[in-house]
Amino acid sequence: MRRILAIESSCDETACSIVNEKLEIESSVVTSQIDVHSRFGGVIPEVASRMHVEQISVMVKAGLKDHDLKDIDAIAYTIGPGLIGSLHVGAAAAKSLAFFYDKPLIGVHHLKGHIFVNELIEPLTYPLLALVVSGGHTELVYMRDEDSFEILGTTLDDAVGEAYDKVARLMGLGYPGGPKIDNLAKEGKKHYELPSPKVAGYNFSFSGLKNACLQLKDRLNRRDENLIGADLAYAFQEVALGHLLDKTLKVMQDYPVNHVLIAGGVACNSRLRELMGEKIKGAKLTLPPLKYCTDNATMIAVAAFKELNHQRFVSLDAASKPSFGIDE
Ligand code: KG4
Ligand code: ZN
Repeated sequence: MRRILAIESSCDETACSIVNEKLEIESSVVTSQIDVHSRFGGVIPEVASRMHVEQISVMVKAGLKDHDLKDIDAIAYTIGPGLIGSLHVGAAAAKSLAFFYDKPLIGVHHLKGHIFVNELIEPLTYPLLALVVSGGHTELVYMRDEDSFEILGTTLDDAVGEAYDKVARLMGLGYPGGPKIDNLAKEGKKHYELPSPKVAGYNFSFSGLKNACLQLKDRLNRRDENLIGADLAYAFQEVALGHLLDKTLKVMQDYPVNHVLIAGGVACNSRLRELMGEKIKGAKLTLPPLKYCTDNATMIAVAAFKELNHQRFVSLDAASKPSFGIDE
C-alpha cells in the first residue's frame, strides 16, 4: 500500500502526517504558534519562521512515530501560498528527506489541501463549488472535475478571516478574533445596523464593513455611550456571513453544482455552518469537522495523492510560491 508523508508549515502551524492510499490517517501531529502570536495581536512572519525551525524536526519525528521512511512512497509539502519564511522551513525539511531517502517530492497547493481533505468525510462529486474562507483567502472555487480549478469570486480587499481578526482587535478581544466573535455573537441581538457590501458578480469585499465597525465604535465613544460588544459581534457576523452566502447562492443559480463544501479556518464558524445547512438546497453539502478546517498536514497528504496519481512531482530546486493561485 502506498503512503505519503506530508509536511505543512505555510502560516503558524507546523504539522506532519502520514496517509495511505485508502485515505486512512496513519499519523497526524500539529503544533500551533497561536499562543505566541496572540501576544502580538497577529502572526509575525519572522517569529513564525523561527518557531517552524524549532518545531519541524520534532513534528517530523513524531509524525514518523513507528514508521520507517523506507515504507513511505513520496514526500509532500506545502509549496504555497503562504508566508515565504514559513514555507521555506517545510520545503527544506521535505527536500532533505526526499534527497537522503531518494523519494519523489510533491509540492502541494495549500488550498487544494483544504478542499481535498473533505474526501475523508465523503466522496467529492462534480461539478463542485468550494467556499474557501481563511485568514488569507476568500474564494469561490468551481471544479468541473478533480483537476480543474476556476476562481469565480475572490475578495477585492480583506479576507473574511482577516476582517474577523481586525474587528475583534478593535473590540479588544485579542487574536485570533474569529472564534471570539463567533462565541460573543451568540449572546448578541439585532441592535446595530451595518451596511452590506455591494460588489458586482461573485466577488467579495470586507474592508467597508470593517470600517463601519470602527466608525460605530468612534461615534459611540464621542457620545460617551457604551459599545455593546455582543451586539456588534452579532451585527458584523450576520453581514459578513450573509455576504458569503449571497455569493455562494448566486453561483448556484448560474452554474450547475452537485456538491458544495466549505474549507479553511473560517469554516469552523458555527453560524456559517448553520446558515449553509439552512440555505444550500439541491446539492450535497459537506461541512468538515473543525480539526480539518484549520491547518494540518493530513490535508496536504490527501491532496498529494492526486499529484502522485498523475505522477506530478517537483524537483529539489523547486521554489516556494508565497503567492500562488489555485488556478495556475
Ligand atoms: O485556515 P486558517 O487556520 O489559516 C489561514 O489563514 O490559512 O484560518 C485562520 C483564520 C483566522 O482569521 C481566524 O480568525 C479564522 O480563521 N477563524 C474563524 C473561526 N475560527 C477560526 N473565523 C470565524 N469563526 C470561527 N469560529
Ligand atoms: Zn489554511
